[in-house]
Amino acid sequence: MISSAKRTAYEKGSVHSWHPYYAGYSEFFVDSVLKIESGRLTQNSIILDPWVGSGTTGVVCQKNGLNCVGIDVNSSMAIFSASKSSKILPKLKSESTSILNRIFARAKKSRKVYDTSHLDEIMSSSFTLKMTRLLVAIEDELHTETLRVEPFISFFKSVLLVSNRQLMGYKSGSNPTWFKKTPPTQCLPFATIEKVYRQNFDSMLYDLEEIFSLNTGSFSVYESSSVSTPVADNSVDLVITSPPYLTRIDYAVSTQVELLLLGGAKKYRSIRENTIGTTTIFSQRKCGDRSWGKLCNEVISAINSHSSYSSQDYYIKNKIQYFDGSYQSLLELYRVMKVEANAYLVIQNSYYKEIPIPLPEIYMQMAKAIGFSEAVCERRDILKSTMAHINVKSKRYEKNKIYYEDVIRLKK
Ligand SMILES: C[S@@+](CC[C@H](N)C(=O)[O-])C[C@H]1O[C@@H](n2cnc3c(N)ncnc32)[C@H](O)[C@@H]1O
Repeated sequence: MISSAKRTAYEKGSVHSWHPYYAGYSEFFVDSVLKIESGRLTQNSIILDPWVGSGTTGVVCQKNGLNCVGIDVNSSMAIFSASKSSKILPKLKSESTSILNRIFARAKKSRKVYDTSHLDEIMSSSFTLKMTRLLVAIEDELHTETLRVEPFISFFKSVLLVSNRQLMGYKSGSNPTWFKKTPPTQCLPFATIEKVYRQNFDSMLYDLEEIFSLNTGSFSVYESSSVSTPVADNSVDLVITSPPYLTRIDYAVSTQVELLLLGGAKKYRSIRENTIGTTTIFSQRKCGDRSWGKLCNEVISAINSHSSYSSQDYYIKNKIQYFDGSYQSLLELYRVMKVEANAYLVIQNSYYKEIPIPLPEIYMQMAKAIGFSEAVCERRDILKSTMAHINVKSKRYEKNKIYYEDVIRLKK
Protein backbone atom coordinates (compact mmCIF):
# COMPACT_ATOMS: atom_id res chain seq x y z
CA MET A 1 0.00 0.00 0.00
CA ILE A 2 1.18 3.52 -0.76
CA SER A 3 2.10 5.50 2.38
CA SER A 4 1.01 9.07 3.06
CA ALA A 5 3.16 11.74 1.44
CA LYS A 6 3.03 13.89 4.57
CA ARG A 7 6.38 14.24 6.28
CA THR A 8 6.84 12.77 9.75
CA ALA A 9 8.50 14.62 12.66
CA TYR A 10 11.76 12.71 12.04
CA GLU A 11 11.90 14.17 8.55
CA LYS A 12 12.16 17.72 9.81
CA GLY A 13 15.71 17.18 11.11
CA SER A 14 18.98 15.86 9.65
CA VAL A 15 19.46 16.45 5.91
CA HIS A 16 15.86 17.65 5.65
CA SER A 17 16.62 20.73 7.72
CA TRP A 18 19.45 22.06 5.56
CA HIS A 19 17.42 24.27 3.29
CA PRO A 20 14.81 26.99 3.57
CA TYR A 21 12.08 24.74 2.32
CA TYR A 22 8.97 23.08 3.53
CA ALA A 23 7.22 21.41 0.59
CA GLY A 24 9.07 18.12 0.66
CA TYR A 25 7.23 14.83 0.81
CA SER A 26 7.86 11.83 3.00
CA GLU A 27 10.66 9.29 2.61
CA PHE A 28 8.13 6.61 3.62
CA PHE A 29 5.93 7.55 0.65
CA VAL A 30 8.84 7.15 -1.81
CA ASP A 31 9.86 3.90 -0.13
CA SER A 32 6.33 2.48 -0.43
CA VAL A 33 6.19 3.26 -4.17
CA LEU A 34 9.59 1.59 -4.68
CA LYS A 35 8.26 -1.53 -2.90
CA ILE A 36 5.15 -1.66 -5.11
CA GLU A 37 7.29 -1.24 -8.23
CA SER A 38 10.12 -3.52 -7.06
CA GLY A 39 9.17 -6.35 -9.45
CA ARG A 40 9.84 -4.08 -12.44
CA LEU A 41 13.07 -2.51 -11.16
CA THR A 42 16.65 -3.72 -11.54
CA GLN A 43 19.99 -2.22 -10.50
CA ASN A 44 20.15 -0.52 -13.90
CA SER A 45 16.71 1.10 -13.72
CA ILE A 46 16.34 4.87 -13.83
CA ILE A 47 13.93 6.61 -11.51
CA LEU A 48 13.16 10.21 -12.44
CA ASP A 49 11.96 13.11 -10.31
CA PRO A 50 11.41 16.12 -12.62
CA TRP A 51 10.61 18.46 -9.68
CA VAL A 52 13.20 17.11 -7.27
CA GLY A 53 13.17 20.01 -4.75
CA SER A 54 15.10 18.99 -1.65
CA GLY A 55 15.96 15.59 -3.14
CA THR A 56 13.80 13.20 -1.11
CA THR A 57 13.30 10.85 -4.08
CA GLY A 58 17.06 10.71 -4.68
CA VAL A 59 17.86 10.02 -1.03
CA VAL A 60 15.42 7.10 -0.80
CA CYS A 61 16.43 5.62 -4.18
CA GLN A 62 20.09 5.64 -3.12
CA LYS A 63 19.24 3.94 0.18
CA ASN A 64 17.53 1.21 -1.87
CA GLY A 65 20.53 0.77 -4.20
CA LEU A 66 18.66 2.38 -7.11
CA ASN A 67 19.69 5.11 -9.56
CA CYS A 68 17.82 8.39 -9.56
CA VAL A 69 17.84 11.40 -11.88
CA GLY A 70 16.56 14.64 -10.37
CA ILE A 71 15.62 17.83 -12.21
CA ASP A 72 14.96 21.24 -10.71
CA VAL A 73 14.89 24.66 -12.30
CA ASN A 74 15.93 26.31 -9.05
CA SER A 75 19.73 26.27 -8.84
CA SER A 76 19.80 26.47 -5.06
CA MET A 77 17.50 23.44 -4.69
CA ALA A 78 19.52 21.60 -7.36
CA ILE A 79 22.68 22.25 -5.31
CA PHE A 80 21.09 21.11 -2.05
CA SER A 81 19.71 17.91 -3.58
CA ALA A 82 22.89 17.11 -5.55
CA SER A 83 24.90 17.35 -2.35
CA LYS A 84 22.81 14.52 -0.84
CA SER A 85 24.89 12.00 -2.72
CA SER A 86 26.34 8.94 -1.01
CA LYS A 87 29.17 8.74 -3.55
CA ILE A 88 30.92 11.85 -2.23
CA LEU A 89 31.27 10.56 1.34
CA PRO A 90 34.67 8.83 1.06
CA LYS A 91 36.31 11.89 -0.55
CA LEU A 92 34.63 14.28 1.88
CA LYS A 93 35.98 12.28 4.80
CA SER A 94 39.51 11.89 3.50
CA GLU A 95 40.17 15.21 1.75
CA SER A 96 37.95 17.89 3.21
CA THR A 97 40.40 19.18 5.84
CA SER A 98 43.05 20.11 3.31
CA ILE A 99 40.49 21.38 0.77
CA LEU A 100 38.86 23.62 3.38
CA ASN A 101 42.24 25.04 4.40
CA ARG A 102 43.00 25.93 0.79
CA ILE A 103 39.53 27.44 0.20
CA PHE A 104 39.79 29.71 3.25
CA ALA A 105 43.34 30.73 2.38
CA ARG A 106 42.16 31.76 -1.11
CA ALA A 107 39.08 33.61 0.18
CA LYS A 108 41.03 35.55 2.83
CA LYS A 109 43.77 36.48 0.40
CA SER A 110 41.36 37.72 -2.27
CA ARG A 111 41.21 41.47 -2.85
CA LYS A 112 38.78 41.19 -5.78
CA VAL A 113 35.74 43.46 -5.70
CA TYR A 114 32.38 42.28 -7.05
CA ASP A 115 29.19 44.15 -7.90
CA THR A 116 26.84 42.83 -5.24
CA SER A 117 24.27 45.66 -5.38
CA HIS A 118 21.48 43.14 -6.06
CA LEU A 119 21.87 41.98 -2.45
CA ASP A 120 21.96 45.46 -0.89
CA GLU A 121 18.45 45.25 0.56
CA ILE A 122 19.16 41.96 2.29
CA MET A 123 22.81 41.80 3.24
CA SER A 124 25.38 44.44 4.20
CA SER A 125 27.90 45.06 1.43
CA SER A 126 30.92 44.03 3.54
CA PHE A 127 29.24 40.73 4.48
CA THR A 128 28.15 40.04 0.87
CA LEU A 129 31.69 40.68 -0.36
CA LYS A 130 33.13 38.13 2.08
CA MET A 131 30.51 35.50 1.21
CA THR A 132 31.07 36.11 -2.52
CA ARG A 133 34.84 35.72 -2.10
CA LEU A 134 34.21 32.46 -0.27
CA LEU A 135 31.90 31.24 -3.05
CA VAL A 136 34.47 32.16 -5.72
CA ALA A 137 37.19 30.40 -3.71
CA ILE A 138 35.05 27.21 -3.61
CA GLU A 139 34.46 27.45 -7.36
CA ASP A 140 38.14 28.08 -8.15
CA GLU A 141 39.29 25.23 -5.92
CA LEU A 142 36.76 22.60 -6.99
CA HIS A 143 35.44 23.64 -10.38
CA THR A 144 34.65 20.84 -12.85
CA GLU A 145 32.89 21.07 -16.24
CA THR A 146 29.88 18.77 -16.10
CA LEU A 147 26.36 19.02 -17.43
CA ARG A 148 24.97 17.66 -14.21
CA VAL A 149 25.17 19.54 -10.93
CA GLU A 150 28.42 18.17 -9.52
CA PRO A 151 27.73 16.68 -6.05
CA PHE A 152 31.12 17.24 -4.36
CA ILE A 153 31.28 20.99 -5.00
CA SER A 154 27.53 21.16 -4.28
CA PHE A 155 28.17 19.99 -0.73
CA PHE A 156 30.61 22.89 -0.15
CA LYS A 157 28.11 25.32 -1.67
CA SER A 158 25.25 23.92 0.43
CA VAL A 159 27.31 24.56 3.57
CA LEU A 160 27.89 28.12 2.34
CA LEU A 161 24.14 28.69 1.79
CA VAL A 162 23.23 27.30 5.22
CA SER A 163 25.93 29.41 6.88
CA ASN A 164 24.84 32.50 5.00
CA ARG A 165 21.25 32.32 6.30
CA GLN A 166 22.51 31.66 9.80
CA LEU A 167 25.00 34.54 9.78
CA MET A 168 22.64 37.07 8.25
CA GLY A 169 20.21 36.39 11.09
CA TYR A 170 17.38 35.24 8.87
CA LYS A 171 14.11 34.64 10.68
CA SER A 172 11.26 32.86 8.92
CA GLY A 173 7.90 34.57 8.66
CA SER A 174 4.38 33.13 8.71
CA ASN A 175 4.57 32.30 5.02
CA PRO A 176 7.74 30.22 4.54
CA THR A 177 7.69 30.77 0.81
CA TRP A 178 8.18 34.54 1.05
CA PHE A 179 11.62 35.74 1.86
CA LYS A 180 11.51 37.96 4.93
CA LYS A 181 14.10 40.69 4.65
CA THR A 182 16.31 41.35 7.63
CA PRO A 183 18.06 44.73 8.03
CA PRO A 184 21.41 44.57 6.22
CA THR A 185 23.56 45.42 9.21
CA GLN A 186 25.72 42.32 9.41
CA CYS A 187 29.29 43.25 10.22
CA LEU A 188 31.25 40.07 10.64
CA PRO A 189 34.99 39.33 10.59
CA PHE A 190 36.16 36.52 8.33
CA ALA A 191 37.15 34.49 11.40
CA THR A 192 33.47 34.28 12.49
CA ILE A 193 32.36 33.27 9.00
CA GLU A 194 35.04 30.56 8.91
CA LYS A 195 34.09 29.23 12.34
CA VAL A 196 30.39 28.96 11.45
CA TYR A 197 31.16 27.45 8.04
CA ARG A 198 33.42 24.76 9.53
CA GLN A 199 30.87 23.92 12.24
CA ASN A 200 28.10 23.54 9.63
CA PHE A 201 30.42 21.50 7.42
CA ASP A 202 31.02 18.99 10.21
CA SER A 203 27.38 18.69 11.21
CA MET A 204 26.15 18.35 7.61
CA LEU A 205 28.79 15.72 6.93
CA TYR A 206 27.56 13.88 10.01
CA ASP A 207 23.95 14.08 8.67
CA LEU A 208 25.07 12.64 5.35
CA GLU A 209 27.02 9.79 6.95
CA GLU A 210 24.04 8.98 9.11
CA ILE A 211 21.59 8.49 6.22
CA PHE A 212 23.75 6.42 3.87
CA SER A 213 25.21 2.97 4.34
CA LEU A 214 27.75 1.64 1.85
CA ASN A 215 25.43 -0.11 -0.60
CA THR A 216 23.78 2.78 -2.40
CA GLY A 217 22.74 3.80 -5.90
CA SER A 218 23.63 6.95 -7.80
CA PHE A 219 21.89 10.32 -7.82
CA SER A 220 22.39 12.69 -10.77
CA VAL A 221 20.85 16.14 -10.56
CA TYR A 222 20.36 18.56 -13.45
CA GLU A 223 19.46 22.23 -13.23
CA SER A 224 16.84 22.29 -15.93
CA SER A 225 13.16 22.84 -16.55
CA SER A 226 10.69 19.97 -16.39
CA VAL A 227 9.33 21.07 -19.77
CA SER A 228 12.62 20.26 -21.49
CA THR A 229 15.00 17.87 -19.74
CA PRO A 230 18.37 16.37 -20.72
CA VAL A 231 16.86 12.87 -20.34
CA ALA A 232 16.84 10.46 -23.31
CA ASP A 233 13.62 9.26 -25.01
CA ASN A 234 12.01 6.10 -23.56
CA SER A 235 14.72 5.69 -20.90
CA VAL A 236 12.92 6.10 -17.57
CA ASP A 237 11.57 3.08 -15.66
CA LEU A 238 9.66 4.96 -12.96
CA VAL A 239 8.74 8.54 -12.04
CA ILE A 240 8.13 9.61 -8.44
CA THR A 241 7.47 13.30 -7.94
CA SER A 242 5.27 16.15 -6.78
CA PRO A 243 4.63 19.09 -9.08
CA PRO A 244 4.70 22.68 -7.85
CA TYR A 245 1.57 23.78 -5.97
CA LEU A 246 -1.08 26.11 -7.33
CA THR A 247 -1.55 28.08 -4.12
CA ARG A 248 0.46 31.24 -4.79
CA ILE A 249 3.63 29.50 -3.69
CA ASP A 250 6.66 30.95 -5.39
CA TYR A 251 9.60 28.58 -4.98
CA ALA A 252 12.05 31.08 -6.48
CA VAL A 253 11.08 33.80 -3.99
CA SER A 254 11.52 31.43 -1.05
CA THR A 255 15.16 30.97 -2.07
CA GLN A 256 15.73 34.56 -3.17
CA VAL A 257 18.85 35.19 -1.09
CA GLU A 258 20.47 31.93 -2.21
CA LEU A 259 19.71 32.57 -5.89
CA LEU A 260 20.97 36.16 -5.74
CA LEU A 261 24.17 35.09 -4.02
CA LEU A 262 24.81 32.22 -6.45
CA GLY A 263 23.91 33.87 -9.73
CA GLY A 264 22.96 37.56 -9.43
CA ALA A 265 19.80 39.42 -10.41
CA LYS A 266 19.58 38.26 -14.03
CA LYS A 267 19.77 34.59 -13.11
CA TYR A 268 17.21 35.08 -10.35
CA ARG A 269 14.76 36.62 -12.81
CA SER A 270 15.28 33.88 -15.36
CA ILE A 271 14.71 31.16 -12.73
CA ARG A 272 11.52 32.92 -11.62
CA GLU A 273 10.35 33.11 -15.20
CA ASN A 274 10.78 29.35 -15.64
CA THR A 275 9.37 28.34 -12.26
CA ILE A 276 5.95 26.73 -12.54
CA GLY A 277 3.69 28.38 -9.98
CA THR A 278 5.52 31.71 -9.96
CA THR A 279 3.41 34.66 -8.84
CA THR A 280 4.94 36.93 -11.49
CA ILE A 281 3.23 37.21 -14.86
CA PHE A 282 5.49 36.46 -17.80
CA SER A 283 2.85 35.62 -20.40
CA GLN A 284 -0.22 37.64 -21.40
CA ARG A 285 -2.11 34.56 -22.51
CA LYS A 286 -5.70 34.43 -21.23
CA CYS A 287 -7.28 31.39 -22.86
CA GLY A 288 -6.76 27.68 -22.33
CA ASP A 289 -6.19 24.89 -24.77
CA ARG A 290 -8.58 22.10 -25.70
CA SER A 291 -5.92 19.49 -25.13
CA TRP A 292 -5.75 20.49 -21.43
CA GLY A 293 -9.12 18.74 -20.95
CA LYS A 294 -12.68 19.63 -19.96
CA LEU A 295 -12.08 20.23 -16.24
CA CYS A 296 -9.15 22.57 -16.79
CA ASN A 297 -11.07 24.59 -19.37
CA GLU A 298 -14.11 24.80 -17.06
CA VAL A 299 -11.89 26.25 -14.31
CA ILE A 300 -10.41 28.74 -16.79
CA SER A 301 -13.91 29.86 -17.95
CA ALA A 302 -15.08 30.24 -14.34
CA ILE A 303 -12.08 32.43 -13.46
CA ASN A 304 -12.50 34.43 -16.67
CA SER A 305 -16.09 35.25 -15.79
CA HIS A 306 -15.50 35.89 -12.08
CA SER A 307 -16.67 39.32 -10.95
CA SER A 308 -13.83 40.04 -8.53
CA TYR A 309 -11.16 42.63 -9.15
CA SER A 310 -8.07 41.28 -10.99
CA SER A 311 -9.64 37.95 -11.98
CA GLN A 312 -9.40 38.73 -15.69
CA ASP A 313 -6.33 40.82 -15.31
CA TYR A 314 -3.85 39.01 -13.07
CA TYR A 315 -5.25 35.69 -11.87
CA ILE A 316 -6.36 34.22 -15.18
CA LYS A 317 -2.90 34.79 -16.66
CA ASN A 318 -1.33 33.35 -13.54
CA LYS A 319 -3.40 30.12 -13.72
CA ILE A 320 -2.91 29.78 -17.50
CA GLN A 321 0.87 30.03 -17.01
CA TYR A 322 0.64 27.24 -14.44
CA PHE A 323 -1.53 24.94 -16.59
CA ASP A 324 0.68 25.49 -19.61
CA GLY A 325 3.79 24.52 -17.59
CA SER A 326 2.03 21.43 -16.20
CA TYR A 327 0.88 20.28 -19.63
CA GLN A 328 4.31 20.80 -21.22
CA SER A 329 5.90 18.88 -18.34
CA LEU A 330 3.52 15.93 -18.77
CA LEU A 331 4.36 15.85 -22.49
CA GLU A 332 8.03 15.71 -21.51
CA LEU A 333 7.39 12.88 -19.03
CA TYR A 334 5.63 10.94 -21.78
CA ARG A 335 8.65 11.40 -24.04
CA VAL A 336 11.22 10.13 -21.52
CA MET A 337 9.26 7.24 -19.95
CA LYS A 338 9.52 3.66 -21.19
CA VAL A 339 6.33 2.05 -22.47
CA GLU A 340 4.34 0.57 -19.51
CA ALA A 341 6.36 2.59 -16.98
CA ASN A 342 4.40 4.32 -14.19
CA ALA A 343 4.61 7.88 -12.90
CA TYR A 344 3.41 8.61 -9.34
CA LEU A 345 2.55 12.25 -8.68
CA VAL A 346 1.55 13.80 -5.34
CA ILE A 347 -0.84 16.66 -6.02
CA GLN A 348 -3.05 18.88 -3.88
CA ASN A 349 -6.31 20.45 -5.01
CA SER A 350 -6.85 24.19 -4.54
CA TYR A 351 -9.41 26.96 -4.91
CA TYR A 352 -9.58 30.28 -6.66
CA LYS A 353 -11.86 32.24 -4.34
CA GLU A 354 -14.95 29.94 -4.24
CA ILE A 355 -14.04 28.12 -7.49
CA PRO A 356 -12.67 24.61 -6.86
CA ILE A 357 -9.56 23.66 -8.80
CA PRO A 358 -9.41 19.84 -8.78
CA LEU A 359 -5.76 19.73 -9.73
CA PRO A 360 -5.17 15.94 -9.45
CA GLU A 361 -8.13 15.31 -11.77
CA ILE A 362 -6.89 18.01 -14.17
CA TYR A 363 -3.46 16.34 -14.37
CA MET A 364 -5.16 12.98 -15.04
CA GLN A 365 -7.26 14.43 -17.89
CA MET A 366 -4.20 16.09 -19.40
CA ALA A 367 -2.29 12.81 -19.20
CA LYS A 368 -5.06 10.89 -20.95
CA ALA A 369 -5.18 13.50 -23.71
CA ILE A 370 -1.41 13.14 -24.18
CA GLY A 371 -1.70 9.37 -24.61
CA PHE A 372 -0.97 7.80 -21.21
CA SER A 373 -2.85 4.47 -21.15
CA GLU A 374 -3.94 4.76 -17.48
CA ALA A 375 -4.52 7.69 -15.12
CA VAL A 376 -5.84 6.66 -11.71
CA CYS A 377 -5.94 8.01 -8.16
CA GLU A 378 -4.12 5.55 -5.86
CA ARG A 379 -4.53 7.39 -2.55
CA ARG A 380 -6.36 10.40 -1.13
CA ASP A 381 -5.65 12.17 2.17
CA ILE A 382 -7.88 14.94 3.45
CA LEU A 383 -5.69 17.78 4.71
CA LYS A 384 -6.37 19.70 7.91
CA SER A 385 -4.01 22.50 7.08
CA THR A 386 -2.35 23.49 3.82
CA MET A 387 -0.37 26.40 2.45
CA ALA A 388 -3.69 27.71 1.09
CA HIS A 389 -4.72 28.56 4.68
CA ILE A 390 -1.97 31.14 4.88
CA ASN A 391 -4.16 33.37 2.78
CA VAL A 392 -6.87 34.09 5.36
CA LYS A 393 -8.83 36.17 2.85
CA SER A 394 -9.48 33.04 0.78
CA LYS A 395 -11.56 31.61 3.63
CA ARG A 396 -14.16 34.30 3.23
CA TYR A 397 -15.28 32.83 -0.12
CA GLU A 398 -16.35 29.45 1.15
CA LYS A 399 -16.44 28.12 4.67
CA ASN A 400 -16.47 24.43 3.85
CA LYS A 401 -13.59 24.14 1.49
CA ILE A 402 -12.09 20.68 1.49
CA TYR A 403 -8.41 20.29 0.76
CA TYR A 404 -7.00 16.94 -0.24
CA GLU A 405 -3.74 15.47 -1.44
CA ASP A 406 -3.85 12.67 -4.00
CA VAL A 407 -1.27 10.25 -5.25
CA ILE A 408 -2.10 9.72 -8.91
CA ARG A 409 -0.53 7.07 -11.14
CA LEU A 410 -0.02 7.63 -14.84
CA LYS A 411 0.97 4.66 -17.00
CA LYS A 412 2.57 5.20 -20.41
C1 LIG B 1 6.52 20.46 -4.55
S1 LIG B 1 8.20 20.83 -4.81
C2 LIG B 1 8.94 19.23 -4.86
C3 LIG B 1 9.28 18.74 -3.47
C4 LIG B 1 10.06 17.43 -3.45
N1 LIG B 1 9.20 16.30 -3.71
C5 LIG B 1 10.76 17.24 -2.09
O1 LIG B 1 10.60 16.21 -1.42
O2 LIG B 1 11.49 18.16 -1.69
C6 LIG B 1 8.26 21.38 -6.44
C7 LIG B 1 9.63 21.76 -6.99
O3 LIG B 1 9.45 22.05 -8.38
C8 LIG B 1 10.43 22.99 -8.75
N2 LIG B 1 10.05 23.59 -10.03
C9 LIG B 1 9.16 24.59 -10.28
N3 LIG B 1 9.09 24.82 -11.60
C10 LIG B 1 9.93 23.95 -12.20
C11 LIG B 1 10.27 23.68 -13.56
N4 LIG B 1 9.74 24.37 -14.56
N5 LIG B 1 11.16 22.70 -13.80
C12 LIG B 1 11.73 21.99 -12.80
N6 LIG B 1 11.46 22.21 -11.50
C13 LIG B 1 10.55 23.17 -11.20
C14 LIG B 1 10.49 23.95 -7.58
O4 LIG B 1 11.72 24.66 -7.60
C15 LIG B 1 10.33 22.97 -6.40
O5 LIG B 1 11.59 22.61 -5.92
